Amino acid sequence: MPALGVNIDHVATVRQARLTYEPDPVWAAVLSELGGADGITLHLREDRRHIQDHDLYTMKKTVQVKLNLEMAAEEEMTRIALDVRPDQVSLVPEKREELTTEGGLDVIANFDRVKQCVVQLQNAGIEVSLFIDPDREQIAASKNAGVHAVEIHTGRYADATSAGDQQTEYETLVNVSEFTIEQGLKLHMGHGLTYRNVSRIASIPHVSELNIGHSIISRAVLVGMEQAVREMKALVSI
Ligand code: PXP
Repeated sequence: MPALGVNIDHVATVRQARLTYEPDPVWAAVLSELGGADGITLHLREDRRHIQDHDLYTMKKTVQVKLNLEMAAEEEMTRIALDVRPDQVSLVPEKREELTTEGGLDVIANFDRVKQCVVQLQNAGIEVSLFIDPDREQIAASKNAGVHAVEIHTGRYADATSAGDQQTEYETLVNVSEFTIEQGLKLHMGHGLTYRNVSRIASIPHVSELNIGHSIISRAVLVGMEQAVREMKALVSI
């Protein structure tokens, strides 16, 4: 049964729309825990478009479950991560103009920078996961970078518009999942997962963590945060 990491970035997106103090992502994290979240995930972006530094520092003190910081493999973020010491860092690619993290990290092309960042974080006792596309070469490169886990990007599965395309993408995910486990890496997955499409992903053997944001926060606007997390937790608990 995979752990559920709830990504609370969008709560900060609403707050930043008015540059005010509400809704506070820290409150959302508390309610997520009450709803059964196994982890809280937040992305501190270089442009600070949603999560702010103070959110991260406060959550380090208040979150009781696993705190997972998504960030780019850059010097400023590494310095902040080493100061805050979340339980896990997930390294993601970051482009200023993107709406969300659009593709996986190219570990092969950026190997030296990624490896240097991984070593610095691990030396401080922080576990590191790499967010990558469902691609065997990227998984093998991640293994060489010495991380404990990879988070496989499920976006192409989530975006598939026909049953046939979805099946093809699902089979790709199953295939790379087996390879991930063979490499001795922990298998995390995420991006674009919803109440409708999550069940097949949650039942892939050995998947140990799912990170889900947009769909949970969207439902939370209507039914409340705790309830939205509780419903997603029930779907992944299979
Ligand atoms: N995993 C990673 C690495 C991400 O960057 C994101 C988006 O911030 C998610 C999971 C969650 O994606 P979604 O908001 O589509 O559920």
